[in-house]
Amino acid sequence: MSKPIEQIREEALAELSQAGDADAIRALWVKYLGRKGEVTGFLRNISELPKDQRPAAGKRANEVKKELESTFNESLERLAGQTGQYSEAIDVSLPGRPAPLGTLHPITRITRLISRVFARMGFGIAEGPEVESDYYNFEALNIPKNHPARDMQDTFYVSDNVVLRTHTSPIQVRYMEAHDPPIRIIAPGKVYRCDSDLTHTPMFHQVEGLLVDENVSFGDLKGVLTAFVHQVFDIQTSLRFRPSFFPFTEPSAEVDIQCVICRGSGCKVCSHTGWLEVLGCGMVHPVVFENVGYDTNRYSGFAFGMGVERIAMLKYGINDIRMFFENDIRFLRQF
Ligand code: DAH
Repeated sequence: MSKPIEQIREEALAELSQAGDADAIRALWVKYLGRKGEVTGFLRNISELPKDQRPAAGKRANEVKKELESTFNESLERLAGQTGQYSEAIDVSLPGRPAPLGTLHPITRITRLISRVFARMGFGIAEGPEVESDYYNFEALNIPKNHPARDMQDTFYVSDNVVLRTHTSPIQVRYMEAHDPPIRIIAPGKVYRCDSDLTHTPMFHQVEGLLVDENVSFGDLKGVLTAFVHQVFDIQTSLRFRPSFFPFTEPSAEVDIQCVICRGSGCKVCSHTGWLEVLGCGMVHPVVFENVGYDTNRYSGFAFGMGVERIAMLKYGINDIRMFFENDIRFLRQF
């Protein structure tokens, strides 16, 4: 058996009292507590002691091990504290470090832009629930159960009669139930569809629009949407109204804008048509008015709905919708 444990302890403490810097203390750590250190060696060789001495020697050696560990650690910390204090002296001549600032998410920016443009035309903002009843999401909008139009939207069902809203159109119905004409609102919000690829995510954003009054015509709809496109894109952007179908509007149209990439001459983004679809719209269907108790002889109105991601992709030239939801700071920092 090598040195007695008390002697090892005393030598270690004596050497520590002479150690001037962290490197010296770390070297002592290796010398005494490392894999081949003296305390470690003592513990390893305990079996060489007479049987009746082993328990007491083992216990004492473990105490010494703990004591040295904490004494070495304390000395190291004391040294670090001293250097720390020293380096914390403030150099008042250095320029300040700027606090990193976040930016608004592109979807927030575009939603605000759209809201601003419509606010200037007198539209207020309405909201509605994202978990919606079948009635508001479909029935009241003239989409009965088993109607083929339900296939246009892959629905997440919460239960038989409750869905995650597939569009912002139910807000129209809720708003009309609670208010009498004249009405002029937009309704931005999240919507959900069971769909995922380069241009679809299961959650995305829409802005709905609704205007109801006496003597509202399709000409008013064209005027409002033309002003909208000219302000969100630019005044040179031409648009066209293409006949379409939605159960809650009659007549219905889809609005295309001249391709913002090639300016109409044809490119990959517009599939060489020169046009990009940006929204759906139409004159509110009389059945929808009847469902909310409006007098269809007195009132007429128009509605429209657009995808915010779609507008953002066109405006910023983004070709993969999933970028919006990956939270990659290199992407988000650009806005
Ligand atoms: N709700 C439709 C959709 O999500 C979009 C839409 C089309 C809304 C025409 C309207 C409208 O208000 O009049 O596909």
